[in-house]
Amino acid sequence: MGGMRTLNLVFRPVLLQDAPLLHELYLACPGYFTLIGMEPPGLEDVVRDLVTLQNDPRRRAFLILEEDEVVGYVDYKLHYPEAQDATLSLLLIREDRQGQGLGRRALAHLMGHLAGAERLYAVVYGNNPRAKAFFQGQGFRHVKDGGPALSWYVREL
Ligand code: ACO
Repeated sequence: MGGMRTLNLVFRPVLLQDAPLLHELYLACPGYFTLIGMEPPGLEDVVRDLVTLQNDPRRRAFLILEEDEVVGYVDYKLHYPEAQDATLSLLLIREDRQGQGLGRRALAHLMGHLAGAERLYAVVYGNNPRAKAFFQGQGFRHVKDGGPALSWYVREL
């Protein structure tokens, strides 16, 4: 019998060798790429992005695991835009696991680990009303729209 369980989420730093896992996650999230009007990246694009990421000491990226299963990805930058800030560029929950509280739990986990940062920004790309509603529901407020396709949200930590 299953019953109610609260499973822990684990944030595992993404290594270059995780590129196939991250690529699989992207392919399992077709709705997101449709929403932002892009093709899901190919494996080579994922590898290139991970190399870029690892060359920037302020960037952080984690696979989100629940019981050894990849259920999401998070990518953010420390000390950006200002020294006391952090900026979330992508929180992605696997499409078949969205709407089950994982996004909220992952965000809470992240905020609990941003020791020292005073503010967390979230940059929402494209026409993504669900993401905007999600961040507003998690205590973020809209700051500004930057360019045609970027909306900035922020909350104090
Ligand atoms: N429409 C409106 N609000 C919703 C929806 C929806 N379809 N789904 C969830 N919410 C709200 C609910 O009110 C919920 O509130 P509750 O905690 O009181 O129940 C709250 O959001 C949290 O819901 P979760 O189940 O935790 O949301 P989820 O696990 O689906 O994570 C996320 C939200 C990250 C937006 C996820 O749906 C996702 O990965 N979407 C595709 C990728 C994406 O757009 N990511 C954000 C890009 S922008 C950025 O990361 C800075």
